[in-house]
Amino acid sequence: MKKFLFGALGVTLLIAIGMGGCSRTMGGSNQSGLLQIAQSRGLSPEDAAHAVKTFVPPGGRDEYLLFASGGHSGQVHVIGVPSMRLLKTVAVFTPEPWQGYGYGADWSEEALGSNGNSNGDGEGHESENGHSKDALRWGDAHHPALSETDGKYDGRWLYINDRAHGRIGMVDLADFRAKQVMQVPNLMTSHGGIFATPDTRYVHISSKVPALKGWDGHKGQKVTVDDHLNRFADIYRGYSTFVRVDQKTGRMSLKDSFQIELPPYTQDLADSGKGPSDGYAFINSYNVEMAGGGIAQGKPPIEVGASQFDFDYLHIINWKKAEEVLAAGKFTMLNGIRVISLDTAAAEGLLFLAPEPRSPHGVDVAPKGDYITVSGKLDPHATVYGFDRILKAIESKNFEGKDRYGVPILKFDAVVAGKVELGAGPLHTQYDNQGNAYTSLYLESAVVKWTLGEPYHSAADAFKVVDKVSIHYNIGHLATAQGDTMDPQGKYLIAMNKWSIDRHTNVGPLHPQNFQLIDISGPKMELLADMPIGFGEPHYAQLVKADTIKAHEVYEPGVSPASMQKSPDAITTEKDARIVRRNGVVEVWMNVVRSHFTPDIIPARVGDKVIVHLNNTEQTPDATHGFAVPTKNVMVSLDPGETTTVEFVVDKPGSFSFYCTEFCSALHLEMQGWLIVEPK
Ligand code: CUA
Repeated sequence: MKKFLFGALGVTLLIAIGMGGCSRTMGGSNQSGLLQIAQSRGLSPEDAAHAVKTFVPPGGRDEYLLFASGGHSGQVHVIGVPSMRLLKTVAVFTPEPWQGYGYGADWSEEALGSNGNSNGDGEGHESENGHSKDALRWGDAHHPALSETDGKYDGRWLYINDRAHGRIGMVDLADFRAKQVMQVPNLMTSHGGIFATPDTRYVHISSKVPALKGWDGHKGQKVTVDDHLNRFADIYRGYSTFVRVDQKTGRMSLKDSFQIELPPYTQDLADSGKGPSDGYAFINSYNVEMAGGGIAQGKPPIEVGASQFDFDYLHIINWKKAEEVLAAGKFTMLNGIRVISLDTAAAEGLLFLAPEPRSPHGVDVAPKGDYITVSGKLDPHATVYGFDRILKAIESKNFEGKDRYGVPILKFDAVVAGKVELGAGPLHTQYDNQGNAYTSLYLESAVVKWTLGEPYHSAADAFKVVDKVSIHYNIGHLATAQGDTMDPQGKYLIAMNKWSIDRHTNVGPLHPQNFQLIDISGPKMELLADMPIGFGEPHYAQLVKADTIKAHEVYEPGVSPASMQKSPDAITTEKDARIVRRNGVVEVWMNVVRSHFTPDIIPARVGDKVIVHLNNTEQTPDATHGFAVPTKNVMVSLDPGETTTVEFVVDKPGSFSFYCTEFCSALHLEMQGWLIVEPK
């Protein structure tokens, strides 16, 4: 049992609650009651203060929303801050039955990518039940990117990459549902970014491990182990991809997208320029040695081969200039996308390299777009590049040479504005509104706070460590409130910890991961709360003011989530419900309200294709119904106002009881109907 001083607890609590002595809302007797509760629960004064700082009362709202990737669960998790309560899980790369995402050969099946290689054009390779045999059923959701306007989150859409494949998904924040998953051509895997440019003209995604030139995982390509070991530099390439976003729908279009071919170094994290650096993109790389493994062939393991040189290369890309080069026709089409070759990129001044200490990881642009922080696993320093210095070095051709592909390499000393010794294993950096940076230290299990240079801090105070806090344990990414935008808030920091070891009740050998909420509003960082993450391996998160998100309460009547427009198959009342039978097809316009389906009997014959246009014609918030058909892999969630179409084939005779999966009313159990399949 922890011991604590009653008086100290009282003072701490009063300070935390923001009052002294008597209060209008809490009398003296309640105060002592509060102290007794804390004491009886064994809380220290600090514990009690942290509880008060993070507590959101029943019915209350959080000030911020955290959008966290779910790793290889393929999902995005939406968490309230400071309460650290999970509000929603949005499936992107993985089917998810609650929302019916990827079940029922409906629009979500299409969004998920029915052939596993979809660009959203609907040309899937469907088998009889609507599911493709080679459909991808998982993805590794890594880096969420909220859309931006003027360099600030605008609450319209969220994009996220699939680390395992070269895919990018789009979540519409009007209804918190994934609408599109696009396979980006020529990428086998992805990492870099993803980020939105300051006005979301593009979202950026780049390869991680380079792919065979002209990669198309579905066609197959010829290669030998000898090619891999001895011709790596020739046969592989990376790509920086600018995916064009439709400003009305948020959908991504390949037609207006482009790629810049990159050397087959392993491109890692990336960030967007902003303010003075708007129009530029920055991508880290490691393995400029181009090690390809081959332990049995007498070569070093990849992690050794990739760490031979002292420096890797920061890639500096001028994408605004790339648009001019495209307009001049200096590109080729490769697997359906415009590609600017490495030669053209070097010759036209679109791509420059700057040395960065070996095996870097994070590259993070400061809020005013002036500094770029790079830090990496094997170097205890953050290396801070000045964008003005980069521009000057490019203009004066201050190069130390070119790489083997002819890309100019800027002089290290010319572009670095400062170095800060942070601690062991620095990875990622975010910022506050006071000119401070916060970097995760993986090996040290800590977050370190340090100062940027001018105009934030004087030269004497610049690039100095000012605070450090321990986390539990092995932190990867971190997120400060709006800390990767031009509108950072300070206030909160979420440490995204890979290990939790001894922090939570034992639930078996697979431990939850651990998010930790840290108060960064004062001079000293203060750890407030743990949130066990038992539903994936989150990588990156963005923390946005909750009132930025303006999601619909209900859909307008008849709206299809796929198009966000009124569906041509929408009906408005029960009277319009009907069944139309034609050769081999039963087509149903169904009305769905508390507490019945109309029609409630669907007659069919063996071999029929059944098409059901489901209409939840209610407008009451939260009056969601479901439509589930036993043995058919059909499960659809129907939110108020929604119209969705499902299709399936009935291949055996029998009576099948479809039903509503949401406890929508007192007569929810009665909300069912019959699919009666007669023999042919
Ligand atoms: Cu509708 Cu239960």
